Amino acid sequence: MASTTLIWIILTVLQLGCTMHVNEVYQYHGFCLDVLINQMTALQKLDNCTVILGDLKLQLQRTRPRDFVNISFPKLKEVTGCVAIYGASGLESVGGLFPNLMRVRGNTLINNYALIISNMPRLREIGLANLLKVDRGGVIIWPGPLTCYVHSVDWRAIAPNARHVLSGIDVYNPCKTLPCSCTDNSTTNFCWNNRKCQRFLEGPEAERCNPECVGCLKRDGSICSLCRYYTYRNKCLNTCPNGT
Ligand SMILES: *[C@@H]1O[C@H](CO)[C@@H](O)[C@H](O)[C@H]1NC(C)=O
Ligand SMILES: *[C@@H]1O[C@H](CO)[C@@H](O)[C@H](O)[C@H]1NC(C)=O
Repeated sequence: MASTTLIWIILTVLQLGCTMHVNEVYQYHGFCLDVLINQMTALQKLDNCTVILGDLKLQLQRTRPRDFVNISFPKLKEVTGCVAIYGASGLESVGGLFPNLMRVRGNTLINNYALIISNMPRLREIGLANLLKVDRGGVIIWPGPLTCYVHSVDWRAIAPNARHVLSGIDVYNPCKTLPCSCTDNSTTNFCWNNRKCQRFLEGPEAERCNPECVGCLKRDGSICSLCRYYTYRNKCLNTCPNGT
């Protein structure tokens, strides 16, 4: 099958990457450079990252669900490259680790994909409830036998104009998840799990935000969740001020 071949290509690419990196994270004022982590103890180095300039790759084999209890990086909002999480054997929810990840820019891709989640036998959900936008590149979700809520997400809304590979979970998977109960409109009734509805940038359910925002507070569209263009002194601007 073409997609199986694809997965193997990807795993090979990642594996090569891992042998070349150490588990160091360079961090400056919340900006972290290319993060590649293959040991649980190194994960805490993500603590202060709000933006990762480059890629986020996690490969945490031989982990158990209890290793991930209370492990979360709520500060991380954006990755400018791609995100690849695979082989984290104990991980049950990607969103548990990165509850506020909003944007993956996909400036660098792995075989045209910007978000790759695969090879996690205990994964129950993707759960990236604040993910609004993948600017460039497609999504690969290769769920495990327990993974639910993959097809309940409108991936086309997050990453339009890209090819996605969402493997045939509805066939293998035992989930008897309730349908999303987010809106009465079936074209926008999408969710990440039974508590979190999908957020939208476009369409009838789009958040009404100022144009400088990617996502904003419901009560005030001028308070951005993330800046679309530039951030300067905690404000979102659409051009860089002179001399900055
Ligand atoms: C994160 O920031 C806190 C407070 O500034 C600091 O104590 C801690 O060492 C930082 N952690 C990392 C991994 O850089
Ligand atoms: C997780 O956090 C909760 C609340 O802070 C605490 O009660 C619990 O003991 C923690 N569990 C572990 C395994 O650290």
